[in-house]
Formats: sequence, structure tokens, C-alpha cells
Amino acid sequence: MEKITIDIKNTKNFIGSSDLEVFQKEIYYKNIDLEQKKGKGSDFLGWHHLPSNISSELLEDIQNTANTIREKAKYFVVIGIGGSYLGARAVIEALSNPFSVYQKSNFPKIIYAGQNLSEDYLYNLLEFLKNEDYALTVISKSGTTTEPAIAFRLLKAQLEEKYGSEEAATRIIAITDAKKGALRTLANQKSYKTYVVPNDVGGRFSVLTPVGLLPIAVAGFDIKSLVDGAHNMEKLCSSSSSLTINPAALYAATRNALLKKGFNIEILINFSPTLMYFTEWWKQLFGESEGKENKGIFPAGANFTTDLHSMGQYIQEGRRELFETLISVKTPHKQVLIPNDNTDLDGLNYLSGKNVEYVNKMAELGTIKAHVDGGVPNIKIEISKINEANLGQLIYFFELACAYSGYLLEVNPFDQPGVEAYKKNMFALLGKP
Ligand code: PA5
Repeated sequence: MEKITIDIKNTKNFIGSSDLEVFQKEIYYKNIDLEQKKGKGSDFLGWHHLPSNISSELLEDIQNTANTIREKAKYFVVIGIGGSYLGARAVIEALSNPFSVYQKSNFPKIIYAGQNLSEDYLYNLLEFLKNEDYALTVISKSGTTTEPAIAFRLLKAQLEEKYGSEEAATRIIAITDAKKGALRTLANQKSYKTYVVPNDVGGRFSVLTPVGLLPIAVAGFDIKSLVDGAHNMEKLCSSSSSLTINPAALYAATRNALLKKGFNIEILINFSPTLMYFTEWWKQLFGESEGKENKGIFPAGANFTTDLHSMGQYIQEGRRELFETLISVKTPHKQVLIPNDNTDLDGLNYLSGKNVEYVNKMAELGTIKAHVDGGVPNIKIEISKINEANLGQLIYFFELACAYSGYLLEVNPFDQPGVEAYKKNMFALLGKP
């Protein structure tokens, strides 16, 4: 498995090695806190050695369930919000052909629900699924989150009406707490197939549990490879907290050194549009983990070259408080050559015979140079290809870096008290008993 690499040379004009050394020392101790479960939120460290602890029986069971769904259903609805859906979506979209929704496939097509409260979205979803063969998973650790609960209530009623209660129950998989919550009670009553969200794993750290693994397997991707990739990164990072060995430590130290110099907005950028939802997952991971007690680096995202034609101006010349973290992909899976054109009206013949990725790579190099020259430091994370193993490595890398970063900021990276504020107001307005 090719290792991901991290390159911080484009931060050198902004931070020096002495800035990093300060964090090296701190990370050494934060790493001990993590290992010995002595830091804040230590009840939620189940993700930390998750890749090395996932049993092959669980992976096999998830794969078998995925195979059964594949035989039964053309569509698979993943109901969940935040950490209960973003990880699965990040991996599925990264690995999918964007046009597969329009094509026939041997795997069920994945549809997402319960991630918003839009009436139009739900109406259109119900209308669409009315005459289609589908199954669903409802994912909620608490089992009480309003958005997925409403979507599930609607789709459960539709499934029961379509197939009858008994058959509908075979098309519903609940992923929730082992014992607590409304969803656990219902699943037990109706004898749904269930998987457990481990008690000590928070939503945004749960992609390598059944929360992420079941939808990813149903979509036809290799969950074993994903977990193996994460396991490799876990082994590497467990071997040392040194910035020269542990990439998560280097990334956490660099971004915190930049924060100390006033760079308080981080934009995760890519030149591969299928990584758009990976960025959404990353935004939640860092936003919900660090953004508390009036602290944190604001996590933003941009997809290039698309957003160079919208956000590019601001990044180049706006307020100088931004830094970028690039996920660079060495090689695409497919090749498309730019054809010659006799008229050359578009003036592109100088590129004839070159592949499109060559142009994309030059855009990447040119962009990073322009942004760094314009005062935007850049951290580059490189993967060889977008595949399961590399995504697994990236997931673990970012999770660990996020834990280090939260500890460096002296916040609890594993809670999310601020998420309750909107719910409290909404429930009061709705007159919830
Ligand atoms: O990361 C988190 O903890 C949140 O995003 C939750 O996953 C999200 O709010 C959904 O919660 P639940 O799984 O309890 O429905």
C-alpha cells in the first residue's frame, strides 16, 4: 500500500521550524493523554484503535447484509444526518463514477435522506420511490434526531404499505445504540436487522463502524481495503509522535502553528471533483471538534478548478487569514487525450496529444504557487490514487490529527454542546411536549 505523504514546504515563508518544535513537544504529551485515555472526552476514544480492532466477523456480516440488499433492491436509502451519514457519502462519492446514477449497475444506487427538513425533497423522494424496489438503513446513534426520524417515519410507512409489514421489516436495517433510544426499541419490536454504533465512538468519528461500512459495502466498494488502509495509518502513527514520522502529528502541529500566526481559516482544496463530499466530512470533523469556547480554525472547502472561477479572487487577494490544505491525487484512473483540431480556433493545439490530467496538474501547481505568493500558506497531502485503501488512510490520518488539534487548543474534541442550541429553540417553537 502506498503511503500518503505530507509536504509543508509551502508554509516555510510563514512559520519556521522553531514554531513547529513548540508543538512537537506538546503533541508528545497529548499523544500520551490519548493513549492513556487521560485527556478531555476520553470516554469517546473508541475510534482511536478501531481499525486494528474491527473483527473480520463484523466485516463479513456487513458484507453478507450488503449482498442480500443487492439481491432485493434497486435503491438503498441511507437515512441519517451529520456524522451518521457524511462519512459514508464521502467515501461513496469519492469512489463512484459521477454518471453511474444514469447507468445500469449491479449494485443498488444510494440515495440519502434525513439530512435536511425540506418538504419538497421528501415529497420528491417519496414520489420517486413509490414504484421502485428499495431497502433502507436508518442510522442514528441517539435514535431521536428529528431530521432522520421524520424521513424514517415517512419511508417506513411507504415500505409497509408497498410490501406489507413483514417484508418491509426485512428491508430495514437500523444502526443505533446497543441498548438505548427509540430506534433500538422499535428495531427490537419489529425484529429489524441491526448494527451497533459503539458507545465510545461519536458520530463524526464513526465512518469505520457499521455507520459508514454498511452503505459503502452496499454501494459495491471494498470495505476490507478501506479498513486495511486505516489500519496501516494507525500503525504508522502509533509508532511515534515525532513530526518526522507521524503525519497526523505534522499536520496538527503545522495548522496550529499557522493559527498562532493569525491564519484562522483553513480551506481543504482538491482538483478531483469526486472528493467534494470528503471535504464535507472533513468540515464536520474539524468544525464540530474544534469550534468551541470561542476557539478553533474555521474549516472551509473549495473544489478546484471549479471554484477558482468563484472563490479564486478572494483566496488570492482577500483578507490574509487563510491557509489551504490540498489533497493532491497523483494519478487518475482513466486517461483522456486532448485531440488535434485542424482549425485550432480555440488555440488548444499546443495541448494536442496531452492527457487532461496533465493540464489539471499544471493548474494545481500554478494555483498553489499563486496562492502561496499571494500570502496563503499551503499544506500538501498526496495520495497515489483515489481508492479504498488511500481513503482509509486519509480518514484515520484526519481523525487523529483532529484529536491532536483539539487537545492542542485545550478543548474537548469529542463533544458538540453547541449543536443543541438550535434544537432547543426549534422544539420550543414546535411546542414539543
Ligand atoms: O458527529 C455527531 O455527533 C453528529 O453529527 C451526529 O452524528 C448527528 O447529529 C446525528 O446524530 P444521531 O446519530 O444521534 O442521529
